[in-house]
Amino acid sequence: MSKAVKAQIIGWGAYVPRRVLTNADLAQMVDTSDEWIVERTGIRERRLAAPDETTASMATIAAERALASAGADPLAVDLVIVATATPDYLFPATACLVQRGIGAKSAAAFDLGAGCSGFIYALALGAHAIESGACRYVLVVGAETLSRITNWQDRGTCVLFGDGAGAVLLGQAHSPGGILATHLGADGAGADWLILPAGGSRKPASAQTVAENLHTIQMDGQKVFRFATKIIPDATRKVLEQAGLSVADVDMVIAHQANARILQAASERLGVPQEKMYANIDRYGNTSAASIPIALCEAADEGRLQAGQRVVLVGFGAGLTWGAVLVEWGEKIPPKRDLPWLLAALRRWWAWLLRRFRR
Ligand code: UT7
Repeated sequence: MSKAVKAQIIGWGAYVPRRVLTNADLAQMVDTSDEWIVERTGIRERRLAAPDETTASMATIAAERALASAGADPLAVDLVIVATATPDYLFPATACLVQRGIGAKSAAAFDLGAGCSGFIYALALGAHAIESGACRYVLVVGAETLSRITNWQDRGTCVLFGDGAGAVLLGQAHSPGGILATHLGADGAGADWLILPAGGSRKPASAQTVAENLHTIQMDGQKVFRFATKIIPDATRKVLEQAGLSVADVDMVIAHQANARILQAASERLGVPQEKMYANIDRYGNTSAASIPIALCEAADEGRLQAGQRVVLVGFGAGLTWGAVLVEWGEKIPPKRDLPWLLAALRRWWAWLLRRFRR
């Protein structure tokens, strides 16, 4: 279906914390080995947030970088969506903290919870907000501090996760391309397979929930694995069908980075060669809603996304949820270095200084 106005990714930025936790480090903490982790997951290391870093602080840096790469003024942003399973607070929304941090005073802001599919959900909603004419610029962020909800004694999960943030700025497409199609889905029947049981209204925090480790990720890894290997190809095909395209028309697939074996199985089932499946899981592990935007930023910065190329972003996760977005990469319009640009750059610099000062 062709639409009058299309949304396009016009800026992108990512942030990962400095601290690296290697498989060798983990082998000192639980009964595991570098060999097991690499063979079963493809992960070699992951990043962990410093004590003074949070989902909001990492999301803010990624958002600032996305604005800077587009040369956009934060005051032009109409909407900030932060996809996360690890918000700073149950409320207020982490998106409001980001909105404050970047000085997007004209923007509405909310969080979106769709597990590891969150960034895809947020991107689809952001694109629809632009296509409908409701918004001109939407900042879409995926950010996680999973290290704070990881059970560091559970070798079945603690080797998998990492922290980080990625953001894109959506604007109206001024060149051919843009976000061509979106597909979202959910199946609550698998809600218990990947869950943080306590801390919500069903099991509020208590001494007992803490003692029972119910504030950490609980996962049935094998069930999620089987779901993932089926849903990535299904969602990818669905989003392509909507645009009247086939797998052969795709230049790159950026799937949620949960396990290298999942990426490999998806590549085989889809018939997409391995080199078209972007992978950085070896360096960051599974960063949930942040994994796709971090990978997208790296692919773009490496020059692997050229104007006119088609990329499918596809995620799956807790809920169960899944989603895919088909993007035709546009020409990068260099930021105008005019007075508003200079003022915006100064504002960003000032906000950065204030943050450093407050730490
Ligand atoms: O983004 C959220 C979505 N999450 C996912 O996509 C995760 C999907 N699931 C997976 O990636 C995989 O299921 C895991 C990586 C979590 C686990 O791999 P697996 O091949 O399914 O292993 P398994 O759970 O079947 O365990 C095999 C063996 C078990 O030992 P026994 O019972 O055979 O003696 C585990 O206890 O491996 C053992 N094991 C480990 N051994 C060393 C589990 N974790 C570890 C470990 N180190 N870290």
